[in-house]
Amino acid sequence: MQQSLKSKQVVLGVSGGIAAYKAVELLRLLVKEGAEVTVVMTENAKQFVTPLTFEALSGRPVYHEIFGNEASGSMEHIRAAEKADLMIVAPATANSIGKMTHGLADDPLSTLFSAFAGPVLVAPAMNDQMWANPAVQENIRILKKRGIGVIEPEAGELACGAVGLGRLAEPERLLTEIRKNLLRQTDFSGKRILVTAGPTREPLDPVRFITNRSSGKMGYAIARQARSRGAEVTLISGPTHLEPPFGVTLLNCQRTGEMAEQVLHHLPQCDVLIMTAAVGDFAPETVSKEKIKKSGEQSLVLNLHPTQDILQAVADKKTHQLIVGFAAESENVVQSATEKLRRKQLDMIVANDISAPGIGFQSDNNQVTLIDRHQKAESLPLLSKMEIADILLDRILAQLNDR
Ligand SMILES: Cc1cc2nc3c(=O)[nH]c(=O)nc-3n(C[C@H](O)[C@H](O)[C@H](O)COP(=O)(O)O)c2cc1C
Repeated sequence: MQQSLKSKQVVLGVSGGIAAYKAVELLRLLVKEGAEVTVVMTENAKQFVTPLTFEALSGRPVYHEIFGNEASGSMEHIRAAEKADLMIVAPATANSIGKMTHGLADDPLSTLFSAFAGPVLVAPAMNDQMWANPAVQENIRILKKRGIGVIEPEAGELACGAVGLGRLAEPERLLTEIRKNLLRQTDFSGKRILVTAGPTREPLDPVRFITNRSSGKMGYAIARQARSRGAEVTLISGPTHLEPPFGVTLLNCQRTGEMAEQVLHHLPQCDVLIMTAAVGDFAPETVSKEKIKKSGEQSLVLNLHPTQDILQAVADKKTHQLIVGFAAESENVVQSATEKLRRKQLDMIVANDISAPGIGFQSDNNQVTLIDRHQKAESLPLLSKMEIADILLDRILAQLNDR
């Protein structure tokens, strides 16, 4: 039998919910697939399943006490767990999710989580009312924003007798997500990715400029996820308030002309160019050296000229690169995006409807349609920008492997 997780180091975090028994099945599946699993439990999880069960199945000591003899005797083992390939928390209680979100570390699970720098998956399981609680939902949103994968709970009969959303995803589904995540960790190694993000700024005078509402979140999410999947990433960014993703080369720019120059300079060295930046279409014809003064009731007439079309310049210069564009449209979204795909000779375009409330610019979520070079459209549900970034990267990889 093929063991797809052979020698992978996995930390399985178990917190105190009724679904803790399903973690035993998950552990069994992981071990069967060849993974080396270290189990860490909260104090409360021991009310549901004993450490002995996990120890027997994993063949390793279980970390279940912060101050016990067993814990201090196995510090080396815990240090090794911090360097594991992946950590999954299943089931994740509302309480443990709260601790993970707010940096608390007062039990073995939350302590190890706060020291763990690798990728983490969280599989919540709780009563439907608890799951719907705004504080829990806000915590989930924050965890997703930090790049933590959330395996959404399922609908069905709950342990409390109610029927609703909150059941732990089945162990087979958890295993599939673990496999996907481990595979994604290196699938972009050796690939060079150039990403543009944010708005551009076209100055009018020393204090004023024309810009747009782009936050840069989509491009930063792509840069971050591509880097975490092993790519060498250069991010060309207009002005944003975002933290640069770890390990990514960040190049700042303001005007469309500067962004175009940087893109064309770095294009020959990249394999994939992903243009998420909301590039200004027009810029003032003249930039006043002095602050433009108001003169009574007189109107100010601005003459704007079209800026350089970066995608067109890229189309003229590209050789082997795979080029992905973004289209923010407010009407005939898919049709307009498909036309742009053809006109600019793109390999893929990501269309989003900026007129829909709660998605797109500024938001952490988006609902997009991916259109490939054969004009095949794939509509994604409402997802976090991190999740969209990963799906987009999956499709890009498929196209690269198809060449
Ligand atoms: C029988 C029983 C079942 C429970 N099931 C859940 C559950 O599925 N999800 C949850 O979030 N909390 C559940 N709780 C409440 C948690 O055990 C409680 O919030 C506890 O503080 C969680 O601690 P931990 O996160 O440190 O493991 C349950 C409590 C009891 C008594």
